[in-house]
Amino acid sequence: MKRTKITDALKRNDFGAEICVKGWVRSKRGSKGIFFIALNDGSTIKNMQIVGEDSNFDEEMLKRITTGACLSVEGTLVESPAAGQSSEIQATKIEVLGDCDNSYPLQKKGASWEYLRSVAHLRPRTNTFGAVFRIRHNMAMAIHTYFHEHGYFYFHTPLITASDCEGAGQMFQVTTKNLYDLKKDEQGNIIYADDFFGKQTSLTVSGQLEGELAATALGAIYTFGPTFRAENSNTPRHLAEFWMVEPEVAFIDLPELMDLEEDFIKFCVRWALEHCREDLEFLNKMVDKGLIERLEGILNTDFVRLDYTEGIRILQEAIRGGHKFEFPCEWGDDLSSEHERYLVEEHFRKPVIMTHYPKKIKAFYMKIDDQKPILDGKEMEETVQGTDVLFPQIGEIIGGSVREESYEKLIGEIEERNIPMKDMWWYLDTRKYGSCPHGGFGLGFERLILFVTGMQNIRDVIPFPRTPKNANF
Ligand code: 4AD
Ligand code: MG
Repeated sequence: MKRTKITDALKRNDFGAEICVKGWVRSKRGSKGIFFIALNDGSTIKNMQIVGEDSNFDEEMLKRITTGACLSVEGTLVESPAAGQSSEIQATKIEVLGDCDNSYPLQKKGASWEYLRSVAHLRPRTNTFGAVFRIRHNMAMAIHTYFHEHGYFYFHTPLITASDCEGAGQMFQVTTKNLYDLKKDEQGNIIYADDFFGKQTSLTVSGQLEGELAATALGAIYTFGPTFRAENSNTPRHLAEFWMVEPEVAFIDLPELMDLEEDFIKFCVRWALEHCREDLEFLNKMVDKGLIERLEGILNTDFVRLDYTEGIRILQEAIRGGHKFEFPCEWGDDLSSEHERYLVEEHFRKPVIMTHYPKKIKAFYMKIDDQKPILDGKEMEETVQGTDVLFPQIGEIIGGSVREESYEKLIGEIEERNIPMKDMWWYLDTRKYGSCPHGGFGLGFERLILFVTGMQNIRDVIPFPRTPKNANF
């Protein structure tokens, strides 16, 4: 008999029909010669209840129906007398496809997140991780749908690259060289000419630079793929391997870029509410009681648009009013997460799009502002048209900017920052040949999933997290 997915079976009401389902046993209980099995096949958070009389089945087979075992069940779809489910299956035939003994690591309910990370190969079989990964899939679909419907082309940028887009030196090297026997020149520098690519290469930290090439040809593109950062940040918000969505658009200015960021995030959140209702309801009950309310709240909120300089003024006022921060916040400092959280969670209580950051704390490609900001009557240093979107509980979810389109100014930045010019010739060609105003942003996919699921740790929203000292599975 052809197998029916449990999500489809639960929608049917042709009671009396013969049906076959397959899945893994979540639990089995019995009373007075009748057994009840909760079977889950991953197609939905919901289980199918299987009911049968012990006397109709082989005793040895029934003993093999343990938590985690894999079953094929045939029977009759019937209306369920039990609350919380519309149908169940009266079993006529059960086959154990895979036994599961009591060494199964997901035996007990309520295991800690840390423990579940140590069994990341099996944790997708739990309710919570099933929900998280179904939502993750749906958010990927939301992203493709949003950009496709808005006329953006999905553009594939390389994962192996010779340039450091963010200039932060957080690259993982890619080499086939024998690390135990490295050839060096007279100055002690490693010779890369005989390496696989004939030069030093790394895993990309961002597809943006190649994305800009595409945007200045196709008009509007997005990339969506893995990104790698060798930053030694052991926080609940950082991964060494994460997924990033990077739209890049020709002829866009800063207000339009901010509109795009806000519209895009709201689209994704609305998509989750519309397509992942059952999983969200589960997470709302079990993981984060305020989740659905927070997601709905975002849809009805205008994000605050805030100059960095104004942000510093607010933070300094808070300090004068007695608020204690661990880190200083003078104009020119990079805001730390406690500052971002103060602005978003305490001062405005809304998402904040911050702009016009000091040039020196942002990447080389950002467009330089014409005017310098004034704080307390004093003129500050140069700023750039960067935009970070700061979210409650997450902090920075998006980083983006309008790009510097002037060849001369861009060269000036590259020289000032000692970025090796010969590696950048292809990028500079966009400014040399028909340069145009353009901009874009990068959204950390896992940070979006954190927000949408209410999970607390970024290691729990990607199937197999890569973090410092951890590359299991
Ligand atoms: O702010 P970032 O570094 O910006 C860029 O990479 C630009 N090239 C994007 C662009 O303009 N096209 O990173 C963008 C986003 C951050 O806002 C954050 O959400 C996420 O990527 N991110 C990380 N997520 C998880 N782990 C990390 N280590 C991350 N680093 C950045
Ligand atoms: Mg950033």
